[in-house]
Amino acid sequence: MIDLKDKFGRSMRDLRVSVTDRCNFRCPYCMPAEIYGERYQFLARSEILTFEEIARLVRIFVGLGVTKVRLTGGEPLVRQGLEKLVAILAGIDGIKNLALTTNGYLLAQKALALKDAGLERITVSLDSLDDEVFKVMNGLGYSVQRVLEGIKKANEVGLHPIKINAVVQRSVNDHTMVDLARYFKGTGHIVRFIEYMDVGTLNGWNLDQVVTVSEIADRINAEMPIEPVDRNYRGEVAQRYRYLDGGGEIGIIASVSKPFCGDCTRARLSTEGKVYTCLFASTGRDLLGPMRSGATDEELRDIIANLWGRRVDRYSEERSAMTGPSPRKIEMYQIGG
Ligand code: GTP
Ligand code: 5AD
Ligand code: SF4
Ligand code: SF4
Repeated sequence: MIDLKDKFGRSMRDLRVSVTDRCNFRCPYCMPAEIYGERYQFLARSEILTFEEIARLVRIFVGLGVTKVRLTGGEPLVRQGLEKLVAILAGIDGIKNLALTTNGYLLAQKALALKDAGLERITVSLDSLDDEVFKVMNGLGYSVQRVLEGIKKANEVGLHPIKINAVVQRSVNDHTMVDLARYFKGTGHIVRFIEYMDVGTLNGWNLDQVVTVSEIADRINAEMPIEPVDRNYRGEVAQRYRYLDGGGEIGIIASVSKPFCGDCTRARLSTEGKVYTCLFASTGRDLLGPMRSGATDEELRDIIANLWGRRVDRYSEERSAMTGPSPRKIEMYQIGG
């Protein structure tokens, strides 16, 4: 296997595949309901990668060093028959880790089929357990119960370890952070709090809304004492902490206050078949066009290898040095975080 390096010596190890640009939630920080209303034109079927096309590209990425694949969206579970894609990917030699990130709303009905198809583990986005807060944060007034049922079902069928991702926004859900940690303490599930990032262009991001890793850790520690733990692997995005009483661990993802670009081995494939080498990129390299006009595997492989070889992205590290308005960026739901 080739060890492809970018301009900063970073290998390509993880591939995040967005399987749909659609979502059944309207989180205001991602797909505000005023913009993504009934008349919004999502991609047509013909414009998105088929499962066979995704599988073909994933095989090529694996040949270039990728060992970890995560399916995302939009909301991946709204794509019809997703378990068929999971089954194909699970059969690719060289993928050591196959995971999926979901908002959990359809998880109770899908968990078993996903597990049977070969999915290994799951991450559920859940920003608060407080129904009033959650209803605002999913933009559609859904209550949290259904997501909890999804997590329960995923646990029963063995999609372990389950991670719960919570984006923390000051004055929106930061007051419910400790309750979320407490609820999952002792369950074996790992809650990870994420500093609110300036992804996309629609959410009116502002530094005042960010609750930093040190404040999150302090606030949890004051109620349930924790201590830091070493990273599991180089490039892990979350800083780990464990409860002193043995109640398990939590993570904090400090993408704003302590960026981790130096170890970033992630490539992203969008629903419409473009490769992005950074979460904050403004353009992606199209693969769907070449693929549909007959490019060979070698040609596609060269396109990806050249792109990675030229990669100089380190947006989060540069952000702190920036003044003035930030450049136009891809929206989060198009590449799934
Ligand atoms: P594990 O494999 O379980 O460790 O998960 P992961 O490292 O793939 O993390 P996950 O996909 O759950 O990402 C959690 C969150 O971290 C994302 O939703 C983003 O908010 C943030 N994040 C993940 N990757 C990046 C990245 O490359 N850059 C930045 N700035 N943030 C990221
Ligand atoms: N900052 C941090 N995380 C975000 N996510 C979406 N938008 C943001 C943002 N602005 C998270 C979602 C989900 C994952 C895919 O990305 O909540 O956990
Ligand atoms: Fe959907 Fe996730 Fe975006 Fe919320 S953050 S609107 S669940 S894609
Ligand atoms: Fe990687 Fe870009 Fe995130 Fe930095 S900002 S960690 S380069 S995706």
